[in-house]
Amino acid sequence: MQELDDKKMVFKVCQDHGNRPADLVQILHEVQAHKGFLSDEVLREIASCLNLSRAEVHGVVSFYHDFRRVPAGKTVVKICLAEACQAVGCDELKEHATQTLSVGLGETSSGGAVSLQHVYCLGNCALGPAVMINGNLYGRVTPEKLDALVSEAES
Ligand code: FES
Repeated sequence: MQELDDKKMVFKVCQDHGNRPADLVQILHEVQAHKGFLSDEVLREIASCLNLSRAEVHGVVSFYHDFRRVPAGKTVVKICLAEACQAVGCDELKEHATQTLSVGLGETSSGGAVSLQHVYCLGNCALGPAVMINGNLYGRVTPEKLDALVSEAES
């Protein structure tokens, strides 16, 4: 049943874009927004609708960090690693996050509680280190502040 729904959803998203291969990135974002991640089945459907090879679709998915191949954790933590945030300690924050959350960058914890991702600029450069948690943006995030924000998000 879920597979049928996914197939219909992918078909509609692709159709809304006129099945244009040039819209692949946008289509992937929209499908991920609907489903939460990009399963093998939806990637196969997208390739079919756009008349692309599965390798072409997989190539684009693996190029962009924002695309998820597995469901995201309940709490999604994105840490900016771009230049302005590097200058104010995002590497230390990243190390702290991987240790305290027990999850690597780009991974989801085994119980599915938290996903940790790196991004390159959240548009909050003057207030780095910048972090986004479940879509909410935070600035001047210290390791202690990160712990508090994650606890708050998980409660
Ligand atoms: S460089 Fe980190 S928010 Fe822009």
